[in-house]
Amino acid sequence: MKNNHIVSASAPGKLLLLGEHAVVYGYPSIVTAVDTRLTVTIEESNDVSGIEIDAPGVSDTRFVRSAIDGIKKHWSAKLPNMIIHTKSDFSSLYGFGSSSAVTVATIFAVRELLGMQHKTLREVFEVAYEAVLDVQKGKGSGFDVAAATLGGTLYYGDGGKVCEPLDAPSIPLIVGYTGIKADTTSLINEVAEKKKQYPDKVDRIFQAIGELASQAKERLEEQDWERLGTLMNFNQEYLRDLGVSSEKLETLIKAARSEGAFGAKLSGAGGGDCMVALYSGSDSERVAIEKAITQSGGEVLRVSSDAAGVRIDPQPHETTDDQKELFIVVDDNDAIVGYKTRYECHHDPSLLHRTVGAVIFNDKGELLLQKRSMTKDMDPGLWGISVAGHVTKGQTDDESISREMKEELGVHAPLTFITKFITRDPRESERAVIYKGIYNGPFTPHPQEISELRFFDLPKLRELIHRHKIQLTSGAKKTLDAIGVWSS
Ligand code: MEV
Repeated sequence: MKNNHIVSASAPGKLLLLGEHAVVYGYPSIVTAVDTRLTVTIEESNDVSGIEIDAPGVSDTRFVRSAIDGIKKHWSAKLPNMIIHTKSDFSSLYGFGSSSAVTVATIFAVRELLGMQHKTLREVFEVAYEAVLDVQKGKGSGFDVAAATLGGTLYYGDGGKVCEPLDAPSIPLIVGYTGIKADTTSLINEVAEKKKQYPDKVDRIFQAIGELASQAKERLEEQDWERLGTLMNFNQEYLRDLGVSSEKLETLIKAARSEGAFGAKLSGAGGGDCMVALYSGSDSERVAIEKAITQSGGEVLRVSSDAAGVRIDPQPHETTDDQKELFIVVDDNDAIVGYKTRYECHHDPSLLHRTVGAVIFNDKGELLLQKRSMTKDMDPGLWGISVAGHVTKGQTDDESISREMKEELGVHAPLTFITKFITRDPRESERAVIYKGIYNGPFTPHPQEISELRFFDLPKLRELIHRHKIQLTSGAKKTLDAIGVWSS
């Protein structure tokens, strides 16, 4: 929803799966956007003269300034007096790309504020990449800027000339933070120095890393996690040869592999920051790998991959969701431990709360999805499953799903229970119960909740997701994976 005076935009963080350092020299890489977001809110204000920046959690405000300079230079825009606030779901210490996310989100928010929506995402990327390079003295491949702008999972190289969205709805990843902040620019410089001293050896390493990234692209789209993991392990060997791994990274990588991870490697510049492990997707394996990482002194960071790119978010007063509604908080065995408000549950991942959802198919086997309206407090504008909601205090799961279905779709269709699972992300933790129904409609979608309601043929849906024509909420992705919709 557009507001004349205040606009918020958020951009995702990133995780590099393959290709670090070689990508600085144009070789391909694979990056996925993660669902921890950085939000920039721009407030037009005559209380300030020029631009004031209030940026807690952003280590370097030069990126915001550089983004503004880039807009003025490339879009010949005249900016009003304004205050720029930033808020991050993640620490800038993790190496998740807070600099690129804040640059992209700033540009996107200003684009909205000035009514310059005709500027394409490619143009946003170009201004943002140049702004980042200006601050980083020309160093950086731009993969992080591309992930923040486009989201999803990308095959990226050649300074952005190669930038292909990959079909990878959810990748079973575990991220371990070393607790040590890496200095990306120094590491890029060290590698450059090594390349000067041993040009043939370093070129051969870069070529091999590029080759691994290009093989990984196919393995990823086939969801061949075992082979993809092997390629990641080879990539780690080359990064070690380049001298950018560290003792702590090696310890966490070894811990993950010893518990059955198919592959594990550093992610980012090296020297510290995070490692990433790829596993089968089984819950018991995830628990074992996470435990091994923690016992080896790492911190497990829960993120999901393939997150949505930069987007405009509604203002809190624009949301139609009652922030005081009481939800049911449970323990890992689904026993009730208390009640907390919608607002609290959506801002504290330690509050595991009950949610319900339904997947409705028509008799042609097509799946009903709803596009969430722009006034939803979570994931506005993204596509969710047929019905999704929370279990309110005093209601059972069955009662809540019937109420939600009636409220959202205006019908009472017969549903049967299919599965129950727990999902956690940095914003919130849910205990989801999912139902299934066969129903052809007609429906009366609630206009405040749903902006579009459609049945999708499954192969077509996959194609639309792949081409980023449709962005699913992370809850929808998890549900569709959990019920095996892609394999049926
Ligand atoms: C840092 O996250 C990854 C590097 O390849 C640098 C870059 O690509 O900009 C080391």
